[in-house]
Amino acid sequence: MARMTFRPGFKRDTTPVVELRDVHKAFDGVVVLDGIDLALERSKTTVIIGESGAGKSVILKHIVRLIHPDRGEVYYEGRRIDNLPERTLSRIRPGLGFLFQLNALFDSMTVGQNVAFPLIEHLRMKPKKAAEVAEEKLHMVGLGGIQHKWPAELSGGQKKRVALARAIAVDPKVILYDEPTTGLDPPRSDVINELIRKLQRELSVTSVVVTHDLTSARKVGDRILMIDDGKFIFDGTPQSIMQCSDTRVADFVAGRAAAEDLASLKEGGRR
Ligand SMILES: Nc1ncnc2c1ncn2[C@@H]1O[C@H](COP(=O)(O)OP(=O)(O)O)[C@@H](O)[C@H]1O
Ligand SMILES: [Mg+2]
Repeated sequence: MARMTFRPGFKRDTTPVVELRDVHKAFDGVVVLDGIDLALERSKTTVIIGESGAGKSVILKHIVRLIHPDRGEVYYEGRRIDNLPERTLSRIRPGLGFLFQLNALFDSMTVGQNVAFPLIEHLRMKPKKAAEVAEEKLHMVGLGGIQHKWPAELSGGQKKRVALARAIAVDPKVILYDEPTTGLDPPRSDVINELIRKLQRELSVTSVVVTHDLTSARKVGDRILMIDDGKFIFDGTPQSIMQCSDTRVADFVAGRAAAEDLASLKEGGRR
């Protein structure tokens, strides 16, 4: 075997891009996160599954600091961020792309203006240059040439893709997807799944996908975690989750599989 020589600058960075350490969070005395440890490996897609109300979105909101932990710590690139003042944080935030559960496009702006918005707002880019970048990002999500349309003219799936183009506009290191396929029929969900994979491949981003859609989780995930009762009860590969003997995991897997079978049976004529 060839001997490895140490080359400064070429060493693989093994610092987790984002890390949660022993994060606890309760709302009105109800415990939602009960000691969450999560380290995101660089350039991988980590999927968090779990029942509705399990605390998946609350985890994402800790990463973007929309929510503060009651106890525990949040790190970004090895630096603690849960206790940073807001003004310091504004330098970090562009590194995080957040695709919210609701698309939340601005209806009063064109598609192109929507995608250009974070470039002008956060990176202080000139509008003309921002419009060019926006067009390039729209092209990346398969929607080249629609920058002059209005959000109201788009389908649900197209709106999600525009929101995704906006999330990647600032070249984030991390993309957080909150229920990216919810409300889409299976063919349209698959377009989103493909896009998540494509962006990981082409941009080498580190992604977190929160979903209760098991099919999507298995298609996009390098690693799947399941949250239940405030803790992770499964951490493994998309293959291994199908064989997990923990009844809570197995029930979720069986339940979702049945629901998805039913949905694909009903799917005919819905396009
Ligand atoms: N800002 C908040 N204030 C009070 N309760 C909240 C808040 N955010 C989330 N919760 C509660 O925390 C629990 C987990 O929510 P969430 O993370 O949104 O679930 P999901 O796994 O479906 O994404 C729910 O019971 C929700 O009502
Ligand atoms: Mg949620």
